[in-house]
Amino acid sequence: MKTEDRIRHRFGDEAQAWSERYDRPLERSIHAYNLHRRRQHALDLLEETGGRVLDVGCGPGNVILSLDISKRLERFGCDFAVPMLHQARTNARLQDKPLHVFSADALSMPFGNRQFSSIFCLGVLEYANDVVQLLSECHRILQTHGQLIVSIPNLTSPFIQIDDFFNGIKNAVTRSVPSGMRRWLKTNLLGRDDKAYFNGRNRRFDPRHVRCLLEQIGFVVQETRYHTYGFSTLNVRLDSKLFRRAEVFAHHNKTLERFGWTCILKAVRS
Ligand SMILES: C[S@@+](CC[C@H](N)C(=O)[O-])C[C@H]1O[C@@H](n2cnc3c(N)ncnc32)[C@H](O)[C@@H]1O
Repeated sequence: MKTEDRIRHRFGDEAQAWSERYDRPLERSIHAYNLHRRRQHALDLLEETGGRVLDVGCGPGNVILSLDISKRLERFGCDFAVPMLHQARTNARLQDKPLHVFSADALSMPFGNRQFSSIFCLGVLEYANDVVQLLSECHRILQTHGQLIVSIPNLTSPFIQIDDFFNGIKNAVTRSVPSGMRRWLKTNLLGRDDKAYFNGRNRRFDPRHVRCLLEQIGFVVQETRYHTYGFSTLNVRLDSKLFRRAEVFAHHNKTLERFGWTCILKAVRS
């Protein structure tokens, strides 16, 4: 199976679970914490100018549906995992909010030039097989002065580097033990479901590199934010207050701030 198909199926299988992570009050897992913070920063960064707002790789629509449309905004979402779009429609119906959804690959979107005033692209770049093409597509469909809010896992974060290292060891160990013992280890010790391992793409990026890419494509980067300071390796149920405290502490220091697990850039089409 091609990597893109694996990614599409993996997210398709997770549609409901993904949505539920947002629905629950802040879970005591760093992954859920990260999603909540990412959404919050993205919504804060968006200057509401009216017009059409598109969420590229919208998943179950939890970000775009959180957008206040009192300012005459129209919401759009696109994703290549069809079950995600079903879930997005269900969520929109339950919240009684209009949402237009499209099944499309973000590398070639079925929209005309300069159709959107703003675009969110959160948690998608790390799965794209052509990052330049994805960002160029966003540029093509944005109006002049339109805003792109894009997130990346931060390669320069020591938290991510240490986490990736230990996750690599952990996966190698749990993969090599008999399935009964693996199930026990994963569910009891690591606090996870015994899901199949995901061999899809899950890249990390240097924010300086993405900044340069955006500028080469024709964006002006206006703001860069970082968030989430912690580890996921053991998925221990730490109190989310701890993550919050770490974040407040890091935001008081420009160097520490850049250690955040996720980086969000706000870029404007020039
Ligand atoms: C990590 S989830 C993030 C969902 C949502 N943006 C959020 O922040 O909750 C990534 C989503 O991007 C979608 N996706 C990944 N690559 C894509 C591509 N090339 N075209 C369209 N959707 C894509 C996946 O199907 C998945 O729903």
